[in-house]
Amino acid sequence: MRKINVFDTTLRDGEQSAGVNLNFQEKLEIAKQLERLGVDIIEAGFPASSQGDFSSVQAIAQTVKGSSVTGLARSLERDIETTWEALKDSAEPRIHVFLATSPIHMEYKLKMTPDEVVENAVAAVKLAASKFPQVQWSAEDASRTELPFLARIIKEVIDAGATVINLPDTVGYTTPYEIGQMFKYVSENVSNIHKAILSTHNHDDLGMAVANSLAAIQNGAGQVECTINGIGERAGNAALEEIAVALNIRQDHYQADTGIVLKEIKRTSTLVSKLTGMVVPSNKAVVGNNAFAHESGIHQDGVLKNKETYEIITPELVGVSSNRMVLGKHSGRHAFKDKLKELGFNGTDEELQKIFIAFKDLADKKKEITEEDLFALMTEATVGTAIAHYELETLQVNYGTINIPTATITMKLPSGEVVQEAATGSGSVEAIYNTLERVIDGPVLLTDYRIQSISGGRDALAEVYVNVKYDGVESSGRGTAHDVLEASAKAYINAVNRTINRQQYNQKLTKSVNV
Ligand code: KIV
Ligand code: ZN
Repeated sequence: MRKINVFDTTLRDGEQSAGVNLNFQEKLEIAKQLERLGVDIIEAGFPASSQGDFSSVQAIAQTVKGSSVTGLARSLERDIETTWEALKDSAEPRIHVFLATSPIHMEYKLKMTPDEVVENAVAAVKLAASKFPQVQWSAEDASRTELPFLARIIKEVIDAGATVINLPDTVGYTTPYEIGQMFKYVSENVSNIHKAILSTHNHDDLGMAVANSLAAIQNGAGQVECTINGIGERAGNAALEEIAVALNIRQDHYQADTGIVLKEIKRTSTLVSKLTGMVVPSNKAVVGNNAFAHESGIHQDGVLKNKETYEIITPELVGVSSNRMVLGKHSGRHAFKDKLKELGFNGTDEELQKIFIAFKDLADKKKEITEEDLFALMTEATVGTAIAHYELETLQVNYGTINIPTATITMKLPSGEVVQEAATGSGSVEAIYNTLERVIDGPVLLTDYRIQSISGGRDALAEVYVNVKYDGVESSGRGTAHDVLEASAKAYINAVNRTINRQQYNQKLTKSVNV
């Protein structure tokens, strides 16, 4: 059985998804969960791209010790030096340096001849290898690169010190057969290939990212790059959970497996979906809400007689629990703390107390508190609250089919002053947002609004996601509450607070750089 290394790029390629902007705390929380999931390598960001990315990569490298942490770098001295500064304290410093190799990228994007590209790649890898024990080199757009040139440049960068060679299908163009041929060609035509691990990285533009990754593994890839829920640039990247489960369930076919802790899959998927605001479709393989739902009578009958008639993956395997009710109104602090620990909580006593109060409040309104509810409260308390510049104190909405919806809101301003405002709208949510806009300094443009329930039932918690443009900056926000209108108000305020946070953070960084 071959062991395939899993390289997770949720925090780098995944974060490049349109509309996703994770803050420092959120990235750290996802990295900790990826470590629990057992990924071998976490690509934490692109340190030279911004001060914010630099700081989060550095913090993740200093915190996570169970997975190797890496950062992306262009083939530039400045990028490689910056990445070293961010990663030098990590358990196993590792850099991911890339350069495009396809004719179209070399001619139009890089404006370099093939010889210049080889020279540049070799120089970058030599510099990287003088600092990092592990150097991954990627041939961007490898799947559209001429194979003899690919073999030539790979040989040169391995001689220069590369330990991992990644061959990305950058534009999601290749097919399982073609990618298999590319890996076979490289394995057979690069004389020093045994000195490096081959890696595959696939985008999903034609819906073949997972199939292409598996074909590459069959043809020599020892590392697979992927993201949780398949998020990423354009149509996304290959989904980690699908690859890990496919290799596990079809070991007979692939003769390969990963070190992924499969029962952590569902929780990781939920966390990433919550923090990025990217909803997982119900029919998504492995982690969709319907992935284990047998709807037709014939299937249900078969499953009752023998599960294996229609079930190839058990929900338990990937951490989907059937025992939904976990705590109730009378559950004590002790049981509560134990359950949170089981869910991966490792926060402070102050955070625990905050979640306990929110739990008691929810238990007054909701009969059964499920794992999903607890997870939502936990996420809200640990990473959900951007520093509260604006704080909702009270909200009242008057709605009737023959009335004009009116909202009255009491808010605490960044100055500490408490103000009350009211406004109308054509619906309750619009009335709330019109009122909030009166309180908040400057216009707020709402560009997206989504609502969903956490777990089922009439008394379910509501979760609202919004995207706003405030002060020229696009930001997302989320709010969870027992009532949909309160969740809507919280999401909007959260988005504005996140924007202010980001601006203050950037100002602070600019000042420290100027100093
Ligand atoms: O898709 C791609 O080519 C990439 C590289 C930077 C590895 O993400
Ligand atoms: Zn990519």
